[in-house]
Amino acid sequence: MAIFLTHAAQLLTLRGSGTASRRGSQMSDLGIISDGAVLIDGKTIVAAGPTDEVAKHDLLRDSAEEIDCRGKIVLPGFVDSHTHPVFTAPRLVDFEKRIAGANYEEIAAAGGGIRASLRGVRESSREQLTSHVLGALDEMASYGTTTVEAKSGYGLSFEAEIKSLEAIRDAARQWEGTVVPTLLGAHVVAPEYRENPEEYVRIVCEEMIPAVSRGGLNPAEGKKEGDSGAPEGIPLQMRRRVAESVDQSSGGLAEFVDVFCERGAFTVQQSQRILRAAVDHGFGVRAHVCQLTPAELAPLLAFHPASLDHMDFVSDADLTPLAQSDTVATLLPAANYFLGLKSFPPARKLIDAGVAVAIATDYNPGTAPTPSMSFVLSAACTHMKMSPAEAITAATYNGACALRLQATKGSLEPGKDADIAIFDASDYRELAYWFGVNRCWVTVLKGAWRDRRSLDSATLRSG
Ligand code: NIG
Ligand code: FE
Repeated sequence: MAIFLTHAAQLLTLRGSGTASRRGSQMSDLGIISDGAVLIDGKTIVAAGPTDEVAKHDLLRDSAEEIDCRGKIVLPGFVDSHTHPVFTAPRLVDFEKRIAGANYEEIAAAGGGIRASLRGVRESSREQLTSHVLGALDEMASYGTTTVEAKSGYGLSFEAEIKSLEAIRDAARQWEGTVVPTLLGAHVVAPEYRENPEEYVRIVCEEMIPAVSRGGLNPAEGKKEGDSGAPEGIPLQMRRRVAESVDQSSGGLAEFVDVFCERGAFTVQQSQRILRAAVDHGFGVRAHVCQLTPAELAPLLAFHPASLDHMDFVSDADLTPLAQSDTVATLLPAANYFLGLKSFPPARKLIDAGVAVAIATDYNPGTAPTPSMSFVLSAACTHMKMSPAEAITAATYNGACALRLQATKGSLEPGKDADIAIFDASDYRELAYWFGVNRCWVTVLKGAWRDRRSLDSATLRSG
């Protein structure tokens, strides 16, 4: 039966971009319709507009389930285009050390940070990781998120990175929303290779990337019958598992490859090697860059990344090349908030230069333990001086662009996926105004209806 959402106080359509990312003043145009309606058939939007116009649609000659959205804001579900959900425990020691005055790099150098999450991932079963990921996805949906990019990156060995991506895939199959998996084997150098980081980079490039990719399992690349396609030197049991996992998925275990290009993680040269291997194997690419220190972007832009993320220390000289590229700058203010920093990513400078800007949670145990895009909207407005309209565009349509999904996500237009968030509010600015409270009333994930109560109980079950 069709679902007919009617009489929304404001319907934020974000219509009219085609497939171009939004820049400058385009970010302020939410395509608002008062007394708006959306008609959903199965997983797809068939109409969006004023209630009295949509009510004339042919589909409504048959019975439809009408949901009265008076006093509500209806908008595209949030696209959280940067998350790290495959971990098992909060990092409370790091948290207390930081409160006592240590900074992120000092904590990492003392054995905390990303490497502190490694043991939990390596020692957990795939099923245990799946349950954690699913709990996170359900919690995100309760805040209005319908599409999530999910990275591996706390395993830091071939086996544990594959297991992490399998957990993401298994959780995605049990969740109604959309998950975009990303290999982040290059999060930091695994502790075993601290003295030989180049060898770790080689493992990422020559073992992880080929095994995760579709191309690496392609007969054209030398796969023999009965061969899993996994690189030589990997135990047979593991190689079978790789073959199985890839066979069961839509072709590969990840869509993107990411790298943390930063002091203490990977150099620009090492990042280039990793991105080159990724592109050669058919992956889209993205990078964490300029989070703690400045870096020149040209060597990374050469790989046409879908996004460059954090960007706190982007240089003025890089603004024009970035604005002229298709790369989205994904800003992650929850990390700055949680690290207790005084400065935030320079959203104004980027938007005013014509760069396409997205915002995301960066959900992770070290710098951003929040599933809430509502909080990110609040931080973007309060600390980065984005307007509420710009922040909503950055959290929906431009987030979809950061995942190259704007043909199906990010706006409420006929033919697009029925991914919708409905908030208890009557003015769109309230989405960024209230914080520390969840005003999301209902989330619709590819036509599947989930109110907050059912989401909360799902989270309790699997979290
Ligand atoms: O995006 N910068 C690298 N990765 C994460 C932090 C991960 C962690 O500390 O666990 C980030 O902030
Ligand atoms: Fe991150």
